[in-house]
Amino acid sequence: MPVKEILRIGHPLLLQTAQPVSQYNTQALNLLVQDLLDTMAAKDGVGLAAPQIGSSLKIVVFGMEDNPRYPGKGPIPATVLINPVIEPLSEEVVEDWEGCLSIPGMRGMVPRYAHIRYFGYDQYGAPINQEAYGFHARIVQHETDHLDGVLYPQRMTDLRRFGFIEELFPERQANGSIEGSMRSDSID
Ligand code: NI
Repeated sequence: MPVKEILRIGHPLLLQTAQPVSQYNTQALNLLVQDLLDTMAAKDGVGLAAPQIGSSLKIVVFGMEDNPRYPGKGPIPATVLINPVIEPLSEEVVEDWEGCLSIPGMRGMVPRYAHIRYFGYDQYGAPINQEAYGFHARIVQHETDHLDGVLYPQRMTDLRRFGFIEELFPERQANGSIEGSMRSDSID
């Protein structure tokens, strides 16, 4: 299955507003969704947005199986979300570390709404209407931001908490795989 190259910060397509999907369950859409799922899996991400693989359409995928190494972070249902709209359900904002496959090797502390509802459609046109808290809500906000041309540093309020993983978390180098040990903090 095709694993696509991921565009990195600086590429102009990551700053564009993506176009809405107008037709569901087409061959082109289904192939693009499969590319997103395959690329997300290959990169060990928990989410991915279509602009990151060079397609400026309002499509995101996300999901994470429950993992005892990251209590309270999962599971998050595997979801294909098209033409998403987000509604905050409370004013509460929480901060946590995020990473992005388009900003490799780095992490930042990002405020996000703690409790949201999201609306949209799956690839077959079935409506999605889902409430989300915590890490689930964070992933959806991170991914839908990609569709508005927004990367997580633009959401940060303190750029002193932005940097390379090895510099921010030197103690974790002893664990071997940095990306693996930091997976719970990385979004896509
Ligand atoms: Ni991202």
